[in-house]
Amino acid sequence: MTSKRAIITGVGHYLPEYVMSNKELESYVDTNDEWIRSRTGISERRILKDPDKATSYMAERAALEALDDAGVSADEIDAIILATVTPDYMFPATAALVQKRIGAVNAYGFDLSAACSGFLYALSNGGMMIESGRAKKVLVIGADKMSAIVDFTDRTTCILFGDAAGAVVLEAGEGGGIIDFVHHTDGDEQCMLYQPAGGSLRPATEETVKNNEHYLRQDGRSVFKKATEGMADVSLEIMKRNNLTGDDVAWLVPHQANLRIIDATARRMGIDKEKVMINIGKYGNTTAATIPLCLYDWKDQLSKGDNIVLSAFGGGLTWGAIYLKWSK
Ligand code: UT7
Repeated sequence: MTSKRAIITGVGHYLPEYVMSNKELESYVDTNDEWIRSRTGISERRILKDPDKATSYMAERAALEALDDAGVSADEIDAIILATVTPDYMFPATAALVQKRIGAVNAYGFDLSAACSGFLYALSNGGMMIESGRAKKVLVIGADKMSAIVDFTDRTTCILFGDAAGAVVLEAGEGGGIIDFVHHTDGDEQCMLYQPAGGSLRPATEETVKNNEHYLRQDGRSVFKKATEGMADVSLEIMKRNNLTGDDVAWLVPHQANLRIIDATARRMGIDKEKVMINIGKYGNTTAATIPLCLYDWKDQLSKGDNIVLSAFGGGLTWGAIYLKWSK
């Protein structure tokens, strides 16, 4: 079994250059820097300004960096799983655009839609492809251009999100890798966080655009409550299943939606704050990109054998956790 575990051999990222500060948001909506920082932990976020560039561009850049880090060439990749809620098009899949641009001529690719849990779902499924022996090298990408679906006149959401991409290369290896995962979905609360129009139920019309239904909507307070419970519960669930205590966990890699949710999760897990990867202050919530972005930012501090818990909660509702032993 150990010889067929999926290990992360390369990590990459892409962040747009443009920094949008809380101060700038004050000129669009009735908000202020103090409110945003104290309620969310966010100081600034990156925005992909170039109108000719979209999620595929950021995903491509992150993928190329991950391949380089792994020392793997694009034509060795068997599969590409791209988690996103902001694909360039409804179809074809953004993974197909990335496959072409990076030259992954032997790979098949598809998009995975699980909002903020997208990267975790993609990572665990990529891991199973490796474990089954059907794939030798899998590229897992989390990328979102949230600024494309954020309503910059809605102060309850526009302050939260940013644009970015992160990617990892998975290969078969020994001595660690993806040990376990727990994922959940609850469609009962599908409208707590969603994009009302633009899909096959409500295709874009003059009316849907006039009503701003092509932008994301969130019942923030309800999602906050669910996320605080869900992310902590699922993190404890995976620790319990693998007999891990807070002391055994070297790093918590939480989805970056709100600093208060992250703090609550770490507290319930019994993990010191120094062991929690937090970069929400600089990037905001980049949906599928938050977790690989953390892995990128902390990659030089990770040691072989570190027990890492990845944990996320998002629209769907979707939530989950992965137990990973670092082996690079
Ligand atoms: O990644 C996917 C999952 N998403 C999440 O996990 C996000 C979860 N939700 C949250 O992070 C928080 O609910 C928010 C940050 C969105 C909001 O924070 P909150 O502490 O739940 O605030 P609230 O919605 O209870 O609003 C408190 C007050 C309200 O005013 P009143 O009714 O008390 O007068 C809001 O209208 O704050 C007001 N408010 C704002 N004020 C200044 C809401 N947004 C803003 C704003 N600036 N941007």
